[in-house]
Amino acid sequence: MKTKSIVAVLSVSVALVLPAFSAETGAAPNKGITYSKDVAPVIQERCQDCHRSGGIAPFSLMNYRQAKGWAKMIREVVLDGRMPPWHADPKVGKWSNDMSLSQAQKDTLVGWIDGGLAKGDDADLPAPREFYEDWGIGKPDLVFEMPEEVTIPATGVMPYEHYVLPTNFEEDTYVSSMELKPSNPRVVHHIIMFVQDPSGSKDAKDAFLGIGGAMLDVFAPGTNPFPLTAGQARKIPKGAKLVWQVHYTPTGRVEKDRSKFGLILAKGPVTEEIRTATVINTGFRIPANEANYKVEAEMNFPDSATIYSFTPHMHYRGKAMDFVLKYPDGREELACSIPRYDFNWQLDYRLAEPLRVPKGTTVKVVAHFDNSDKNPYNPDPTKSVTWGEQTWEEMMMGGMFLSWGSGEAPAASTD
Ligand code: HEC
Repeated sequence: MKTKSIVAVLSVSVALVLPAFSAETGAAPNKGITYSKDVAPVIQERCQDCHRSGGIAPFSLMNYRQAKGWAKMIREVVLDGRMPPWHADPKVGKWSNDMSLSQAQKDTLVGWIDGGLAKGDDADLPAPREFYEDWGIGKPDLVFEMPEEVTIPATGVMPYEHYVLPTNFEEDTYVSSMELKPSNPRVVHHIIMFVQDPSGSKDAKDAFLGIGGAMLDVFAPGTNPFPLTAGQARKIPKGAKLVWQVHYTPTGRVEKDRSKFGLILAKGPVTEEIRTATVINTGFRIPANEANYKVEAEMNFPDSATIYSFTPHMHYRGKAMDFVLKYPDGREELACSIPRYDFNWQLDYRLAEPLRVPKGTTVKVVAHFDNSDKNPYNPDPTKSVTWGEQTWEEMMMGGMFLSWGSGEAPAASTD
C-alpha cells in the first residue's frame, strides 16, 4: 500500500535519476541513496535556511539523527509541496529566490526515506554551510531599534502595532543594504518598514496607504534581505521618520521581542535608486460565503521602469494573486502568478532577470479571495469582509521593487 502511492507520485523522472526503478514490482530502488552523499546536500541547500538553531523553523535539520527523526514528516511535506514554502506557478517566470525542490531533489528525499534511511559514509558529507549568527547583510553602519520591548501574550490576537522613530538624518541618505531583524523570530509574523517623508503626511497609517515609495523593507519568515547590487540604493529622505508596522502572532507562551533595523550606507556613486510601488485596492467588499471573489487594481507606469520583484499581500481569505503587464502596444503578459497564496508565508518573488517595461505600461493586479467555509483559515465565512489591518479583515496589495527608467524618479512618480 505504502509503495503503491510512492509509485504514483514519483512519476517518470524517477526512472532517470534511479535507473533500476521497477514499475512492475513497485519496489523503489532507493537502497543506494545515502544521507551523507545524496540527502545532506539537498537539505543544506533547501531546508537549513530555516531549519537550524536560531532559524525560524521549530526544529533543526542539521545532521543525520535529526533528518532521520523527522523522516516521516519530511516525506509528507515534500510530497504535498508544503515544504519548502514556495507558491509561485512554476510555469510563469523564473525567480532568483525560488526555494522549491526539483523533481530530482524530491525523489532523493523520498527515495532515501522509503529505502530505509541509509546513513552512508561520513567522508561523503558536504562541507557544512556557514550561517551568519548576526546580520545577513554584514555589519551594519547604523542600527535602529524598536522604541520599546514588546510583550506578546501567550494567546489571543495582537493588533498590528505601529512604532514611529526619527532617523535624525540631516541629509538625504542612500542605503545599499538593509535588514529587519527580530530579536525573537518565532513571534514576528511580519514587519513592514515605511519611511515617512517629513514633507508628506504626519500620520503613520497614511504612510501605509501612501501608495508608492513609502515602503522601505519587509521582514517575513522565509525572506532574506533584498540584495541590491553595486550602484543600487534606497533613499531615505532628510529628516524622515521610520514607521515600523509589526504583526506579532502568539505562540502559546508569553514572548518578548525588540526588533532591529540595520542599514549599510551606500559607499560608491548611486546609479540606480530602487523604489517600491504598491498597487492597492481598498474599496472592495467580499460577500459572505463567496469562494472565489475577484478584486482588481491597476497602476500606470509614468516612466519606463525596471522591475525586480513582486510581493503579494492579502490576509486569511487571500487565495491567489496574478500580476499582469499591459504594454502600450496592447500586448499582455502574465509576469507573476501565485495560484495558492498562503498568508502564513509573506514571500516575495524576485525575478531572475529584471523586467524592463516601457513608459505607459500598466500593471494589473488580480486577486482572488475565498470567503467560504472551505477555506480552513477563514475566521468567519458568514460575514462579508472589507479592507482593514487586522487579519480577520482583508487587504489587497501587490508590491513591486523597481527603478524608474533613468534611475531618477519622474515628476509624476508614485512616490
Ligand atoms: C523558509 C523557511 C523554511 C524552509 C526553507 C523549510 N522549512 Fe520546513 N518549516 C518551516 C517552519 C516555519 C515550519 C513550522 C511551521 C509550519 O509548519 O508551517 C516548518 C515545518 C516543517 C515540518 C513539520 C511540518 C508540520 O506540519 O509540522 C517539516 C517536516 C519540514 N518543515 C520539513 C522541511 C524540509 C524537508 C525542508 C527542505 C526541503 C524545509 N522544511 C524547508 C520553515 C521552513
